[in-house]
Amino acid sequence: MTRWLVTGGAGFIGANFVRLLLRERQDAEVVNVDLLTYAGNLENLSDVEGDPRYAFVRGDVIDPAAWSDAVGRAPDVIVHFAAESHVDRSIDDAHPFLCTNVLGTQSMLDWTRKKGVPTFVQVGTDEVYGTLGPDDAKFVENSPIRPNSPYAASKASADLLVRAAAETHGLRTIITRCSNNYGPYQFPEKLLPLMITNAMEDRPLPVYGDGLQVRDWIHVEDHCRGVLAAAENGTAGEVYNFGADGEQTNMSMVHRVLDLLGKPRSLIRHVEDRKGHDRRYAMGFAYAREALGWEPQVGLHEGLSATVAWYRAHEEWWRRVKSGAYRDYYDLMYAARLAGDGAPGDGEHSGAR
Ligand code: NAD
Ligand code: DAU
Repeated sequence: MTRWLVTGGAGFIGANFVRLLLRERQDAEVVNVDLLTYAGNLENLSDVEGDPRYAFVRGDVIDPAAWSDAVGRAPDVIVHFAAESHVDRSIDDAHPFLCTNVLGTQSMLDWTRKKGVPTFVQVGTDEVYGTLGPDDAKFVENSPIRPNSPYAASKASADLLVRAAAETHGLRTIITRCSNNYGPYQFPEKLLPLMITNAMEDRPLPVYGDGLQVRDWIHVEDHCRGVLAAAENGTAGEVYNFGADGEQTNMSMVHRVLDLLGKPRSLIRHVEDRKGHDRRYAMGFAYAREALGWEPQVGLHEGLSATVAWYRAHEEWWRRVKSGAYRDYYDLMYAARLAGDGAPGDGEHSGAR
């Protein structure tokens, strides 16, 4: 068996990655370490909870000593997704981003070294490269690092610490950087799930500024396949960009959502722009294609239609997130059960170890 430790597995991309691993790697056992911040939702993984190859440990990446025993045997691979991930929140208060994204990554690197974990994969973002003008070439792996938001700066810092750990301590590290993800289980503070769910509720759709900012949209499943390919076949010390040639303005994405839902464009409201708003991201992924044999497989129209259909079919899921009811799930499904087992309060665990 290959033992995977996934941090942030109760979030959007982490949960999709855990499900992919369990589905496509029969020799995989997966430990999901997640603090369950506002963005962590164990309902994202309710369908795999009973899988004997899956275990959940509640813990903070800043403090592995608190949960290390609960994890048990050291993993073969760490895939580090856990982060504060929302740009707007980083503009309001950068500190949680520095704690989790910078100090948390360093703590995970220290733990990797202490436990002798063979491979550490850092899940990074295109935002570390900053912004592009309309005619600029796409980002490549050696584009300058020019982050513009506190979130992007914290992720760039994390990437640099990963590089330093590899150079200094000889850790086998791989960094992936991906463009904007969309798909099932995305927290409805991000553009697409916010627009889809607001439109379903006939509520206004807040578009920042002129809405002509460009993002390179990729289906979460394609991103997860890229991370898996990098973890299994990547070269130590390398960076791999993932994108989908999916450049669209925010207005175009919002129009598509409204059309798919049969809702009127009069729901759109142009609101104050985001401070320091990056105008355009676009990822060149020729290196990942060549070195990993990876390619995005989900077309934007197909992926967006399927995503809108998923939110339509999972209204209870997003209504529980929007109302805050999802916060009770851990207490109902895990904490009470663990209390019955006499399990400790910190580094709580469930499932196979
Ligand atoms: P998310 O906000 O949906 O999930 C983050 C998860 O991390 C949550 O489950 C949360 O509980 C957990 N977490 C936060 N702080 C923690 C801590 N201190 N200790 C342990 N767990 C903690 O984020 P996401 O959109 O799924 O992004 C996952 C990763 O992928 C992040 O590193 C992000 O920077 C990166 N990324 C995201 C995108 C995107 O489009 N969403 C694109 C490229 C890269
Ligand atoms: O590019 C990868 C990044 O994509 C990830 O690293 C981040 O974790 C992820 O949050 C995402 O960042 P963005 O800032 O690009 O995503 P967000 O969904 O917040 O916004 C997408 C675009 O839509 C951006 O131009 C801002 C705009 N927007 C966003 C919201 C939430 C709006 O116009 N209105 C909104 O209400």
